[in-house]
Amino acid sequence: MFGAGYGGNKVRKLEWLLADARARQRRTILTAGGLGTNFGLATALYARELGIATEIALVDQPRDEHVGEQLERLRALAALHFTHTRARTVVTLAALAVRVALRDRRAPLVLRPGGSSPLGALGYVEAALELAEQVQANEVPEPARIVVATGSGGTAAGLALGLALAGLRTRVTGVIVAHQLRLDAPAIARLAGRSARLLARRGAQLPPEATVGAADLDMTREFLGPGYGHPTAAGEQAQRLAGERAGLVLDPVYTAKGLAGALAIAARGGGPVLFLNTYDALSRRRRAGSA
Ligand SMILES: Cc1ncc(COP(=O)(O)O)c(C=O)c1O
Repeated sequence: MFGAGYGGNKVRKLEWLLADARARQRRTILTAGGLGTNFGLATALYARELGIATEIALVDQPRDEHVGEQLERLRALAALHFTHTRARTVVTLAALAVRVALRDRRAPLVLRPGGSSPLGALGYVEAALELAEQVQANEVPEPARIVVATGSGGTAAGLALGLALAGLRTRVTGVIVAHQLRLDAPAIARLAGRSARLLARRGAQLPPEATVGAADLDMTREFLGPGYGHPTAAGEQAQRLAGERAGLVLDPVYTAKGLAGALAIAARGGGPVLFLNTYDALSRRRRAGSA
C-alpha cells in the first residue's frame, strides 16, 4: 500500500519518537489527530515494523476523498477511536492509557498530535543542520526565509532551533493550517526552547546565542481559511500549480496551504524563499507508478 518512505515530515520526528518507544520497551503507542491524520498513519506504519501497536483517537475534520482514503489506510494499521471533539479525545486517551496498561502490563507511550514534542522536534533540528551543510557547500543559496505548513508546531520549532544552532540568518515562517491548537510565535519559541534544554540535558554544548525567541518566528493564519481541513481557493490553486509545473503531489490539508503561503510571501519580495515540502516525498513517484 505504501512505498518504503511514506510519511513526509513525520519520518524525521518518528526516527526519534520510535527509538524512544523501543528504548522504553513500550508495546503500544497512543496518539490523537484528525480523521485524516498523516502522523497517526505514519506512526502506525512504522511502529508496526517494530512490533509496537498503535491506537488513535480521531477528532472530526471535513470529509473529502483524501480524508476517506486516509481513513481506509488507518483502519488497516491501527485501532481507531472516533472521539469527534477535543474534549472527548482528552478523556478517551486517559481511559485508554489505563486499559492499555492493564493489557500490556506496561504503560503505553502517549504521543502528542503531530508528534510535536521536544523530542519529536529534534528531527527538524537535524533537517536545518542538513540545509546548513548544503548552504556551506554552495549547493543552495542561504534562504532568507523557509516557509512551512504548521499543524502542531514541531516542524517550525525544530527548524528554527536548528537554524539558530547552525548560525544561519534564515527566518522561519509557519503557515498555520490548524485552528484547534495554540501555534503563535511564543508557543513555537517555547517548544524550541524545550528541545534545546533536552539537547543540553543529554550533553550537547549549545552556543549561548543559539536561542529562539518569539521575535525570530513569523507565524501566520492568513492562509488558514475557515479552519483545519477546509479547502481554500489559494490552496487549491497552489496544489494545481505544483502538479502542473513540478509534477508534485501536495495534500490539501497542509502543503497546499503552505505552498499558497510561500508563493504569496515570495511575491512580496525579500527572497530567496524556500518552501519545505512536508508531504510524502515519494508521492510523485507513486503517482507516476500507478498512472
Ligand atoms: C504533510 C504535513 N505537512 C506539515 C505538517 C505540519 O507539521 P507540524 O505538525 O510539525 O506543524 C503535517 C502534520 O501535522 C503534515 O502531515
